[in-house]
Amino acid sequence: MLIRKFIGTGMIAPGDISASSKTGISARALAERTGITAAPSNTAVAEQAGILFICVKPADVRKVLDEVWGVLQPGVLIVSIAGSVTLADLTHYAGLHARVVRVIPAVTAEKGAGVSLVTFGRGATPEDRERVLGLFNAVGTAVETGEENFDLYADLTSCAPAFIAAMIREYAAAAVRTGAVEPAVAEFLIRKTLSGTARVLDDEGTGFDEVISRVATKGGITEEGVKVLEARLPGVFDKVFVATERKRLIRAKELARGD
Ligand SMILES: NC(=O)c1ccc[n+]([C@@H]2O[C@H](COP(=O)([O-])OP(=O)(O)OC[C@H]3O[C@@H](n4cnc5c(N)ncnc54)[C@H](OP(=O)(O)O)[C@@H]3O)[C@@H](O)[C@H]2O)c1
Repeated sequence: MLIRKFIGTGMIAPGDISASSKTGISARALAERTGITAAPSNTAVAEQAGILFICVKPADVRKVLDEVWGVLQPGVLIVSIAGSVTLADLTHYAGLHARVVRVIPAVTAEKGAGVSLVTFGRGATPEDRERVLGLFNAVGTAVETGEENFDLYADLTSCAPAFIAAMIREYAAAAVRTGAVEPAVAEFLIRKTLSGTARVLDDEGTGFDEVISRVATKGGITEEGVKVLEARLPGVFDKVFVATERKRLIRAKELARGD
């Protein structure tokens, strides 16, 4: 998705991108669709790369960097999008002189929207910052922050499209349970409303409270629904954050053990 978006936004020319994958199948399919080069191996990509994107599962990052570190260009910038793999891990795997960046993109980049979280390792230069923030600002909004914020912020950016979709699915399902609406109609109505609400909230200065007060007039019907949500949802979201934090700790231990 990132390769397609970087090309589509004109940020990188297809001729300047080489990609490899484990089986080679997805890299070749992408090359056919986009005009990039499908390289025969990870080392073939790494030995030419000015910026090396690592887009494998967290458990595979060490393997890939172990494989390529001997052929890396001296000035290479390593950009990892793997969740749970820290800047310290990346520096450890790629060597102390490597310049490393962590990015947590979101599926919303597909539509040129949403947030990519970015944090730079100590050796990153102002040019690295400009290049990486420029790339991710072209596919949404790049937010640079300290690595200590990554987990919580990722719940609000990268995980959030799934959380929001799950909430809206339950909303539509409850409407269907009343027996008064077909599933397809409920889904259509709420999807269109979700997209419209996102656009209203996107206006600078329009906060949640303003949208709520514009719709939920005092003593009205909407206000009754808002009261139920305000009573029930805080506990649900508290549990979401506890659950994601617990899973991250488990993941970090698995990663440290090399599982
Ligand atoms: N999905 C999201 O919304 C999201 C958001 C933020 C960050 N991330 C991070 O993005 C990373 C990738 O996630 P994903 O959902 O795209 O995973 P995925 O669909 O499983 O893709 C993983 C890719 O890694 C390739 N790969 C695996 N081992 C390799 C190796 N040794 N050498 C070269 N390529 C190898 C695979 O190649 P083949 O195609 O040949 O099997 C596949 O193309 C993860 O670390 C995840 O934490 C994902």
